[in-house]
Amino acid sequence: MNVATHHLRCTECAAVIPKDDVTSNFRCPKCNGLYEVVYSWSDVKHPPNAPDDPNSRLPNPSALRWLWQERRSSSLAVDQSGVWRFRDLLPIVDDLEKVVTLREGNTPLYDLPRCAKVAGIDWLLAKHQGMNPTGSFKDTGMTAALSVAAQRGFEWVACASTGNTSAAMAAYAARAGLRSIVFIPEGKIAWGKLSQAMDYGALTIQLKTDFDGCVKILGELVQKFPIYLLNSVNPYRLEGQKTPAFEMVEQMDWQVPEHIVVPGGNLANSAALGKGFSEMFQLGLISRLPKISVIQAEGANPLYRWFIDSNRVMKPVTADTRATAIRIGNPASWRKAAAVIDDLGGWCEQVSEQEIALAKAEIGAEGVGCEPASAVTLAGLKKLVALGKITREERVVLILTGHTLKDSQYTIDYHRNELFTDAEKAQLTAGDEARHAALRKPPIVLEADSTLVLRTLESHMNQPQPV
Ligand code: F0G
Repeated sequence: MNVATHHLRCTECAAVIPKDDVTSNFRCPKCNGLYEVVYSWSDVKHPPNAPDDPNSRLPNPSALRWLWQERRSSSLAVDQSGVWRFRDLLPIVDDLEKVVTLREGNTPLYDLPRCAKVAGIDWLLAKHQGMNPTGSFKDTGMTAALSVAAQRGFEWVACASTGNTSAAMAAYAARAGLRSIVFIPEGKIAWGKLSQAMDYGALTIQLKTDFDGCVKILGELVQKFPIYLLNSVNPYRLEGQKTPAFEMVEQMDWQVPEHIVVPGGNLANSAALGKGFSEMFQLGLISRLPKISVIQAEGANPLYRWFIDSNRVMKPVTADTRATAIRIGNPASWRKAAAVIDDLGGWCEQVSEQEIALAKAEIGAEGVGCEPASAVTLAGLKKLVALGKITREERVVLILTGHTLKDSQYTIDYHRNELFTDAEKAQLTAGDEARHAALRKPPIVLEADSTLVLRTLESHMNQPQPV
């Protein structure tokens, strides 16, 4: 197998540097752009020349498919990982012994027939990245970037986070015996995520600012201390986060869905998935590309504003949404995500707090569940179908990024009808209100009296189930 080395290329000025020359803030010194990891196949045009030629320097698609499947039955940790199983397309560590893995990836692809129906399409799947070891998609990126940190001999790693990155980083750092520092916005992340960072032994610093403020402080720190930065400006994170694209099409027998719908916060995940699909296409593993659409919360919508602006200017916003994972106003990777939308032909939409809550309850009612930030995908899908951007017969995959237990307070508030403000309730149509009422399942407190319990059950049995 061809284990190519890699370089880093600035996504803005295209300067290529050797991997060891990158600065501690992962920004191009010439233009401040972000880097991407490039391999021998990165500039190959589809279809690659003679992919089955034994003398070709490119990985062979049939051999890769076979090898990736074979590794599933191996007992080696790197083979059991749903990221490192695909290591031929992310040759970023020289020593596989140094890989830090919690057997991430291998996440399920669920069908969501009832959500498909409410969205108005025939066929809907969800790639549930919340089923990773720390409960979010961040694990796939963290195993990659933290393995690089371990290989390079760093003792300290750090990130600024809305919660999930910090949970993932703290866990992987603990596995590697590295020390980790987490910067989170005070009072604006879900408790479950904060508790994970503490449980995994991170030094947790709550800054009296928002996520964007945390990023700024950390950016200054990494230039003064030997700390390895693990925010998604680190291009190795994206190498891990591209692998769910491989896994998804493998799970679909190498069929490509027409449309992928992703939540957008700091905008690295949409970029990573786009890179994964593009590389598979370049290598001849798939014969066409899906569209990738990004959905943001109305209160944290800088990419949406860019998308609808005829001058295409990116203006940071002051972010506010209950989907705290994507409460981000100045997304670092916006140019990369914008390129994916443009190159693959997707859209950007925004969704309201009420739409997010409804979609989250609908995903929960399918027995799948997700955190609020993930539910923007279903809410956005409904809009894209209504706008005619996605048609009934297209196969759509939602990327569910976080587990429902990540933010249980949100779910409890929703079901107790304590989530929305009066002003938000007043904006609901009668139809919306009826839909919410049918989905809400608040706990019922009763005296321990069997007659009373029976009577209560009977009254509930007569109520229709939501679609
Ligand atoms: N969904 C969840 C559950 C997230 O935690 C995040 C980002 C996103 C979606 C957005 O992904 O930033 O790549 O566009 N969470 C980061 C964090 C920012 O710190 O945990 P993105």
